[in-house]
Amino acid sequence: VTEREAMARALDLAWRGWGRVQPNPLVGAVVLDGRTLVAEGWHAEYGQQHAEAMALERAGSRARGATLVVSLEPCAHAGKQPPCTDAILRAGVGRVLAALRDPNPVARGGAEMLLDAGVHVEVGTLAEEAAVQNAGFLHRYRNPDRPFVALKLATTLDGRIADHAGRSRWISGAEARDYAHWLRAGFDAIAVGGRTARADDPSLTVRGSVVPRVPPKRVVFDRQGDLPPSLALVRTAGEIPTIILTAPLPAALRALRAQDVTTLLVEGGGRLAGALLAAGLVDRYYWIQSPLWLGESGVPAIAGLPGLPLEDASRWRVVERRALGEDTLLVVDRV
Ligand SMILES: NC(=O)c1ccc[n+]([C@@H]2O[C@H](COP(=O)([O-])OP(=O)(O)OC[C@H]3O[C@@H](n4cnc5c(N)ncnc54)[C@H](OP(=O)(O)O)[C@@H]3O)[C@@H](O)[C@H]2O)c1
Repeated sequence: VTEREAMARALDLAWRGWGRVQPNPLVGAVVLDGRTLVAEGWHAEYGQQHAEAMALERAGSRARGATLVVSLEPCAHAGKQPPCTDAILRAGVGRVLAALRDPNPVARGGAEMLLDAGVHVEVGTLAEEAAVQNAGFLHRYRNPDRPFVALKLATTLDGRIADHAGRSRWISGAEARDYAHWLRAGFDAIAVGGRTARADDPSLTVRGSVVPRVPPKRVVFDRQGDLPPSLALVRTAGEIPTIILTAPLPAALRALRAQDVTTLLVEGGGRLAGALLAAGLVDRYYWIQSPLWLGESGVPAIAGLPGLPLEDASRWRVVERRALGEDTLLVVDRV
């Protein structure tokens, strides 16, 4: 394999920690001897072995003089695990290829420490892909004022999220719904608007292949603040916290961040989606598009977004695109 292919593999492996490693980043690593992939590692569980240590342990003596390809700069600090830089030096690795610098002021500096010890270090291979994968983690250090906000909607071909009676179960198919549960597992909190909470009575729990280490909190944006006590979100608040936000959007998001919500997945409805977008508070949009039509009487996916002349329209960056059964997933990031 080439070094880029090895890094792509490291990024694939890193996903195995989704839902299990927060607040740590997702990290994958491979040991490369020439063009031969010798061993693989990933950070699987918060507080447990780091990706580099796993890959080096599996490589054994074959790590000597080899290249360690890792999706994030190796850490240089002793936390719940010993510093990865120690393991790298002990293994006799000749070269380290990292996708990204570590923004965490406590853990960073691994690159300098390895360079000082005579290990060749290069940073930047597949840096964009790695930044997309760890967007929530990176956001935490760049913007301490609010969580990383991702919007997720399942819409019809004509951009509707429910019919005239407010029914939205189900616009998307089974594969898209499995994906939605996988997605939830990696967020600190899942949010909906007050009208969705009332209309759908969702539980916003994670019921998929990944069981999150810490179940995401549930959040309802509702300026009236008078959700009926019969709603599932209210009834089960003793098991999984439910936070009801009545403040204006930026203040509400600041309050969430102050409660250690660093990543928020907003699952609609259309008015909340439009209000967040209009305020410039959405970092990523997961759009699931399903092949059906609901027509004008359906609920719009994005309501109340002010119109713009074409030259002022903001164009977002496509970071992922794939089929989920009959549905299509498009993931775009604000630039
Ligand atoms: N297909 C899908 O993916 C999907 C996902 C979710 C929902 N849905 C469907 O969407 C429908 C509900 O959507 P909707 O657009 O009618 O309502 P919505 O977005 O769910 O609810 C709007 C709510 O957000 C609250 N809010 C709080 N702060 C706000 C702010 N700054 N700006 C605007 N709103 C704010 C509003 O409070 P106030 O009352 O104070 O204005 C209101 O309660 C339901 O039928 C549901 O089934 C579909």
